[in-house]
Formats: sequence, structure tokens, C-alpha cells
Amino acid sequence: MSSDMSEHKKAVGEYAAERFIDSGMRVGLGTGSTAVHFIRRLGELIADGDISDIRGVSTSSQSLLEARAAGIGVFDLDDPTVDGELDIVVDGADEVDPQRNLTKGGGGALLMEKIVAHAARRVVIVCDEGKLVENLGIGFPIAVEIVREARLTASRAIQRLGGRPQLRLAQRKMGAVITDGGHMILDVAFERPFDPVAMEAEINAIPGVVENGLFTRCNPHVIVARADGELSEMKPAARS
Ligand code: A5P
Repeated sequence: MSSDMSEHKKAVGEYAAERFIDSGMRVGLGTGSTAVHFIRRLGELIADGDISDIRGVSTSSQSLLEARAAGIGVFDLDDPTVDGELDIVVDGADEVDPQRNLTKGGGGALLMEKIVAHAARRVVIVCDEGKLVENLGIGFPIAVEIVREARLTASRAIQRLGGRPQLRLAQRKMGAVITDGGHMILDVAFERPFDPVAMEAEINAIPGVVENGLFTRCNPHVIVARADGELSEMKPAARS
């Protein structure tokens, strides 16, 4: 990644904190190298007294550690003061298609990210323009979180859906990546375009699949950092 691109990720993450967060909000804290800038800027806004009474809900051990370091109060989603509902979540994405369907899970946090997105009234995605694609799952594999016992059976079922699954291996530990929820991840590449809505449901119907990284139902507001340094937006359809 170019240093320019990291500057763009920082700019879009910080912008989301300044534009979308108000005092008193219950806020989902996304995961990844873009969402981390949102968390850090949110911490600065709290420290400066610009906003107050924020209840954060983390989507991963990464965002929990970042939120603690930034001085943001972190709560469980089922804490009585959060009550399973969030005003907003700000998170990153691996790919975004023209209909604003997403893939997530490059950082292995897809399960909690999907639960938090489901709980949030508003989903804001921060990304750089390299994430915009015509079809999901071809340039970047789809993460599928599975229980260990289903590794072979789920892999074969995914092959029947046209995917090529590969067990995600850890980098500074021998063996498989184990998620925050204690599961394994299959990274599934596709050669041909597919219907993301149907595929999200079909993968999740396989026994032993805990969740997959297709996000087709969160109607996100996507903020894109472009290579020229400007930000552009893909806005959600107005609710009827
Ligand atoms: C974490 O599991 C992911 O869903 C991230 O939000 C996604 O991989 C985007 O990360 P970056 O902002 O680091 O590209």
C-alpha cells in the first residue's frame, strides 16, 4: 500500500468521526486499517470535550484495544445501557459493488461485524477507491467462518456453489487462524459473478457455517477516499 493510500484511509476514517457522531450515541466500532482512524479520531473528539456520553461497542479484539487506548467507553451489545441497539456503526470493507453490497472479513472479524451492523440503525462504510468492484468475490475472497468440525463438509458444499475454499492460515503462529469467536475461516474465491443476496443465504445454510462475509442487507452509506484525495459518497436509498 502506498503511503498516499494510508493517508487517504486516515482522512476518510477521521471524516466519519467528525461528520456522523454526536453526543449520547451508541456507536459500533469497526475493524481494520481504515476503521482504526475513525476510532482514534473519536477518542480525540471525546478527549477535547467536543462530544460526550459515547457508548462504544467493539467488533473485534483489535477495535476493543484501540477503543481502550483512545479512551472510549466500551460496552457489550447486551449491556442494559446499550440494549442491543446502536445509533450507528462505522466500519471498513474489503469490496463494495455498485449496489452497495459489501464483503468484509479480511481482518477475520466478520461475525461480530455482522451482528453489530444488524443492530445499527445506520451503517457507514469507510474505504478507499481500490475497494470498488463490479462483482464481489472475484478479486478478493469471501471469508466464511466455520466450526472446526465442518472444515471438509463445508468446503465441499462451497465448491458445489462454485467457490474455491482455502483454510486461512495464521502468520505468526503455526496452523489455522482462530477467530475471536473460536472458529476457523475459509477464504473462498469465485471465478464467475454471482447473485450476492442469494449467495449470502446459501453459504449460511451450510451446516457448520457460522457466518459469511457477504453483507447485502445493511443498506450502507459508503464514503470513498479517492486517489486524488477527494471523498465521494454512495448513499443509501431513502426509507419508505
Ligand atoms: C475486518 O474483518 C474487515 O471486515 C475489515 O473491515 C475490512 O477487511 C477492511 O479492512 P481495511 O480497512 O484494513 O482494508
